[in-house]
Amino acid sequence: MYISKELLETPDSGSPTFIKSQFSIPWSMSRAEQYCMTQLLSHNKPSVAIEIGTYKGGSLQVLSRYASKVYAIDISSDSRDSRCDNFNNVEYLIGDSKVILPELLKKIEDNGEELEFILIDGDHSTKGVYQDILNIMNYTPKKALQILLHDSFNPNCRKGMKLYDYNSNKKVHFVELDFIPGMYNHDGLYRQMWGGFSTIIMLPEDREKPLKIFENQKKSYEVTYFKSIHFLKNTFGFLKPVYKLFKK
Ligand SMILES: C[S@@+](CC[C@H](N)C(=O)[O-])C[C@H]1O[C@@H](n2cnc3c(N)ncnc32)[C@H](O)[C@@H]1O
Repeated sequence: MYISKELLETPDSGSPTFIKSQFSIPWSMSRAEQYCMTQLLSHNKPSVAIEIGTYKGGSLQVLSRYASKVYAIDISSDSRDSRCDNFNNVEYLIGDSKVILPELLKKIEDNGEELEFILIDGDHSTKGVYQDILNIMNYTPKKALQILLHDSFNPNCRKGMKLYDYNSNKKVHFVELDFIPGMYNHDGLYRQMWGGFSTIIMLPEDREKPLKIFENQKKSYEVTYFKSIHFLKNTFGFLKPVYKLFKK
């Protein structure tokens, strides 16, 4: 095992992982999330995967390594690391996922491709997260499909993840909002809540029992929320114009 001593000097929530020799493109995920994605994908080796939100290509490098085919959606390709050009099994789709996803899912369905994994990490607004979920929930899986939703610890994203009525969809068999817990006040993001993975499992067969939506870190989420900048903004945000007036 080779350890670069430089990495030991400035640790943060995402590094060192000690797996950078395999996955060297920087990604916007915590150490726990990087390990989670790497382990899940190397174990399950999906036939077809979709990524919403590529950015530099951090998560995409793992998807490309372990999935046979990847569709990578991003509204812009400006930040994409040039090493992503070497991924021969990736098709890049540039544009808004709200527009691209319905067309892509139809194409996958028509071609009889076996979609087994989706990462949602694109538009982080409540509406954006909800719309991505809604589009995916209209898809009928041919094989077991795992969906990972990044930033479930962020209040806006989490709200979007909770808006959909999962019980109304018989193909949904499991929902856990705190599959991987998130972070608080990390890497200089003052009082902010980010990170965490929710997961949804869809199966081809219908569910027979009512679905329970799990939130195994609900208490930790709530305690943190009341200390966070999100709570202050959501509760006292209406006072901002008054504050600005006095500041002048
Ligand atoms: C947090 S980054 C993704 C990070 C990446 N998954 C990783 O782990 O390294 C979010 C990305 O989503 C993209 N994005 C934002 N809104 C989008 C939208 N409506 N449709 C598609 N992509 C979007 C941004 O351009 C950005 O590159």
